[in-house]
Amino acid sequence: MTQAFIKTGVIGHPIAHSKSPLIHNYWIKHYGLSGEYKAIDIAPQDLKSGVQSLVNQGYAGFNVTIPHKIAIMDLCDEMDEAARLIGAVNTVVIKDGKLYGSNTDGYGFITNIKANAPEGWSLAGGNALVLGAGGAANAVVYALIQEGAARITITNRTREKAEALVKLSPERIDVIDWDERSSACADKSLIVNTTALGMSGKAALDIDLSSAGKDTLVSDIVYAPLTTNLLNQAHEIDIPTVTGIGMLLHQARPGFELWNGVMPEVTAELERLVLA
Ligand code: ATR
Repeated sequence: MTQAFIKTGVIGHPIAHSKSPLIHNYWIKHYGLSGEYKAIDIAPQDLKSGVQSLVNQGYAGFNVTIPHKIAIMDLCDEMDEAARLIGAVNTVVIKDGKLYGSNTDGYGFITNIKANAPEGWSLAGGNALVLGAGGAANAVVYALIQEGAARITITNRTREKAEALVKLSPERIDVIDWDERSSACADKSLIVNTTALGMSGKAALDIDLSSAGKDTLVSDIVYAPLTTNLLNQAHEIDIPTVTGIGMLLHQARPGFELWNGVMPEVTAELERLVLA
């Protein structure tokens, strides 16, 4: 029996910049599967008809990126706990015409940290500092709670957006002013930048890491450049770091498994391909 051709893709607007086709088509080839993952441009006003067209074409599912991650929730028949708590969907499975939404960004974030942290590092029972409170911070904070962080301190230029995240775990999350970010680096197992600061073309993240301890891990979800000014500063004072590229690669894995039946691995070759 010939293997069924599995159609998948990513919807967004614009979509040409997306790295997801590169990642998924690499895995389809690597595992010898029959299928194709496409970049599909759907304008916001066409979301419903665009998604229906994928259902009609027999797609197994799709990833969702900007600007549809929240709007797609209304079109989902069911959502998993991660999607409900993060408040966004990045992965959809289509089964018998129904849409099942999930969110794998938190998984991608924490799996990348665990895969690349120094031996013996653990977040369980430790404290985390989260810089930023945008869409990505939602997923990061969700993952930190799941991972057993004792306290999560969130700071954001716009304080109200940080306060909106407290509901994820009111007894474990506190919010501080953006001006307090440097002093808040003390006593943290993890410091993570979820803002756009440090990205190519944006201002650097202005923070002083000197109060952080040697057992602190510093991570950035920005991966262009791969080594941000935040990670450079950590290197200078001998604090271990994890770059952001693995979050992008690991978040793609659960969707790939749901659609193709194989849990793919993140390899150095794939990382090089995506960074090229
Ligand atoms: P994403 O969904 O990718 O996280 P976003 O929702 O636009 O993107 O969030 C961007 C984050 O970067 C926010 O935390 C934003 O702070 P505000 O909520 O105050 O906008 C933060 N950010 C962007 N530019 C910044 C700057 N110049 N200084 C401080 N924070 C900044």
